[in-house]
Amino acid sequence: MTRILTFGTFDLLHYGHMRLLQRIAERGSHVVVGLPVDGIVVAAKGRPPFYPYAIRREMLLHTRYVDEVVPHDGEVDGIGRIRLVAAKIALVRELGIGEVAMGDDWRGDYDFLKPHCRVVYLERTAGISTTAIREARYPVVD
Ligand code: CTP
Repeated sequence: MTRILTFGTFDLLHYGHMRLLQRIAERGSHVVVGLPVDGIVVAAKGRPPFYPYAIRREMLLHTRYVDEVVPHDGEVDGIGRIRLVAAKIALVRELGIGEVAMGDDWRGDYDFLKPHCRVVYLERTAGISTTAIREARYPVVD
């Protein structure tokens, strides 16, 4: 079966994350999360995560869906919203990844990986996000 990789901050782990990880786990035998280190989160989102890397990693490993968490770090290059293009390609190759799976708010953004592995976008869960929780806007009114 396939080794699957997904990328994301996964801060303040919530049911949108869990539903995505559950569906990813059903698609393969080994689920790896490429988890951005705190400095990369700052570069991408403009502020540090609520939980630092070590806690975000620990919580992902407490779920039944994640087999491995690897640090996602490197030079902050980018294509549009995507950071660390070279680091993403390197992880796919080094880890023997057959598929990268992302929520569909990223549709198209990971297509640059298609020469290296399958790329799929799974439906995002409406009405929940880390940002909404941090800003005390839960439940989200879209
Ligand atoms: N995700 C999802 N459904 C949600 C929220 C996130 O399927 N309601 C998915 C994203 O599409 C992504 C992964 O979970 O593939 C990690 O997303 P992340 O950016 O960490 O979560 P958000 O809640 O979107 O965080 P933020 O508000 O900081 O953007």
